[in-house]
Amino acid sequence: ANIVLIGPPGSGKGTQSTRLTEHYKICQLSTGDLLRQAAHDQSSSEGQRIRKTMEAGGLVDDDIVLSLIDKNLNKPECRNGFLFDGFPRTINQGEKLEELLESKQKRLDAVLEYAIPDDLLKRRILGRLIHKPSGRTYHEEFNPPKESMKDDLTGEPLERRSDDTTETLNARLHTYHKQTTPLIEFYRQRNIHRSIDATNKVSNVYQQSLELIENFR
Ligand code: AP5
Ligand code: ZN
Repeated sequence: ANIVLIGPPGSGKGTQSTRLTEHYKICQLSTGDLLRQAAHDQSSSEGQRIRKTMEAGGLVDDDIVLSLIDKNLNKPECRNGFLFDGFPRTINQGEKLEELLESKQKRLDAVLEYAIPDDLLKRRILGRLIHKPSGRTYHEEFNPPKESMKDDLTGEPLERRSDDTTETLNARLHTYHKQTTPLIEFYRQRNIHRSIDATNKVSNVYQQSLELIENFR
């Protein structure tokens, strides 16, 4: 299966990705994670440019994002498909993904939109804690780790993301409404878009995601 998750910052894309990829035995492809990795690996000017854009809450250039996608689409261990988390984010990226998949005789099965009002996202983002090595996410209030600031499975320290500030969140939300929401119409026209109420509990959003994906398969 090839599935796209669209939703504003904090809507739960990463949280649901971990579960959905395990269920379908597919690979998670989070451009946010890949870009954070690229920014970290590259002390070069490109790495610095990526970091700056992410700190400002804008979108990183398409050529960088698309080359990361291209590199990952051919992994043999991902032949069951992909869960695209946070990609595409613009109509242009949506068109490019379509071309890339077509050239490999693949297609998207479902596009799930995690819909949630902006004012609920601040608490989610400002309370988020992450375990970098595994990608597991926690939340101070909504999903606290068993031991303060430690990953449940490894005991390793939890961290915050440097773009999880009120200021950068506002910019990320602005970018989402302006550049990403037009993509919803793009997929609606292709009859593969469904919207999910992402204000619900993690387990409810997961159940609904599974049901909708099954309806498309
Ligand atoms: P990215 O890393 O994708 O960030 P984002 O889109 O802002 O989304 P988040 O990761 O913040 O939120 P999420 O939906 O994954 O929520 P999560 O599950 O963690 O991108 C970062 C940056 O990279 C972008 O700003 C941009 O600069 C760049 N970039 C990325 N992709 C790009 C692209 N394609 N093109 C160009 N630039 C790109 O949950 C959040 C918190 O809420 C957690 O603490 C979690 O525990 C909690 N939570 C989750 N679900 C629930 C629930 N149902 N109830 C209560 N709490 C919940
Ligand atoms: Zn995420």
